[in-house]
Amino acid sequence: MKAAFYEGFGPAQEVLRIGDVATPDPGPGEVLVRLRASGVNPSDVKLRAGARPGAVMAYPRVIPHSDGAGEIAAVGEGVDRAVGARVWVWNANWQRAFGTSADYVCLPSEQVVELPDGVSFAAGACLGIPAMTAAYALDGVIAGQTVLVTGGAGAVGRYACQMAALMGARVITTVSSKDKAAHSGCEEWINYREADVSAAVMDMTNGDGIDRIVDVDFAANQDVAVACLRPGGTVSSYASASVVTPELQFYPLMFKDITLRMLIVYQLTGTRRAPVQERLQGWLRDGALSHAPVTSGGLEAIAAAHDLVAAGDKLGTVVLEV
Ligand SMILES: NC(=O)c1ccc[n+]([C@@H]2O[C@H](COP(=O)([O-])OP(=O)(O)OC[C@H]3O[C@@H](n4cnc5c(N)ncnc54)[C@H](OP(=O)(O)O)[C@@H]3O)[C@@H](O)[C@H]2O)c1
Repeated sequence: MKAAFYEGFGPAQEVLRIGDVATPDPGPGEVLVRLRASGVNPSDVKLRAGARPGAVMAYPRVIPHSDGAGEIAAVGEGVDRAVGARVWVWNANWQRAFGTSADYVCLPSEQVVELPDGVSFAAGACLGIPAMTAAYALDGVIAGQTVLVTGGAGAVGRYACQMAALMGARVITTVSSKDKAAHSGCEEWINYREADVSAAVMDMTNGDGIDRIVDVDFAANQDVAVACLRPGGTVSSYASASVVTPELQFYPLMFKDITLRMLIVYQLTGTRRAPVQERLQGWLRDGALSHAPVTSGGLEAIAAAHDLVAAGDKLGTVVLEV
C-alpha cells in the first residue's frame, strides 16, 4: 500500500516520505480499514517534530495520524462487522506505529466506529481527536449552565461551542477576530486579544459568572477561571499552550471549590469512553453537528499539511484525502 511515514523526528519537509509499505493483515479482533481521509492534529505534528518532552522514536518507522475515516476492507477472526461499512477510527497512532496516513490501517475493532450516512469521510477524519475531546470536556451536567469555551474557532473549540449548546447550555466563547467568531458559530463572543475577558464575562452574565470553562490554554486563562467561575464550577482543560507548567493558583481555586480536569482524549477508553462516544454518535446520526474539514490534498501533500497545522492559522481540521 501507499503510505506517508517518517523514520526519525525533524522538520516535516525533511523527514516525511511517501513509499510502498506492506498492507497489514487483520489479526484476531482486528479490522482492516481502507482509508479515504486522514486527519492531521497538532499532536501528530508535535510528535513528528520530536517536540514532546523526552521524545524518543518508539518505532523504527511511524505512519502518522490518529484520526481517519474510510470503509471496512476485511475483518480478522472473531469480528462480526460488514465489509464495505463506512467508519471512522480513533487512536490509530497512539502507542502504535502505523496510523492513518496510508491506504489502509489495521486496528482493534472497538477503535473502528460506524460513520453515519450523511457524514462525509473528511468530516469523519475530524472526530477521533477534535470532536471527542470536545465531547469529553463536556461531561457531567451541562443543561442550564453557562459555559465559556476559550478558542471557539479552534478545531476542538468549535465542536465544544456546538455541543455545549446542544446540551442546553448558554455558550460564550473567546476568539481573536470577527472572522473567527463567525467560524465558531457562537453568537456570544469576546475578542480575547483586545478585551479584559474576566470583566467581559462578568458583564455578559450580569455578575453571575459561569459554571464551566472548556479551555485550550490553562496558563493563559487561569485568572479567568478564578475570577469568573461560580463556586462548584469546573475547568475542563485540554491544553496549556502558552506555559506548559503554569503555577497553580491553589487557594483561589480551592476557596471556590473548583474541579480541575486536565483531560487527554487518548486516555478515553473502555467503559469511560462508551457514553461519550455514544453521545457523539447520536449527534452524527441526527446531523446535528457542523464540521470544518480543511481538505489539503492527497498523501503527497502531507508535509505542507503538517506545516499548515503548525502555523496555527487554519480554520478547521486539516484533512488529507487518501
Ligand atoms: N488534551 C487533549 O486530548 C487534546 C485534544 C485535542 C487538542 N489538544 C491540544 O489543544 C490545542 C488546540 O488544538 P486544536 O486542534 O483545537 O488547535 P487549533 O485548531 O489550531 O485551534 C487552537 C485555537 O486556540 C485558540 N487559542 C490559543 N490560545 C488561546 C487563548 N489564550 N485564549 C483563547 N483562545 C486561544 C486559537 O485562537 P487564535 O488563533 O484566534 O489565537 C485557535 O483558534 C493543541 O495544543 C492540541 O495539541 C489536546
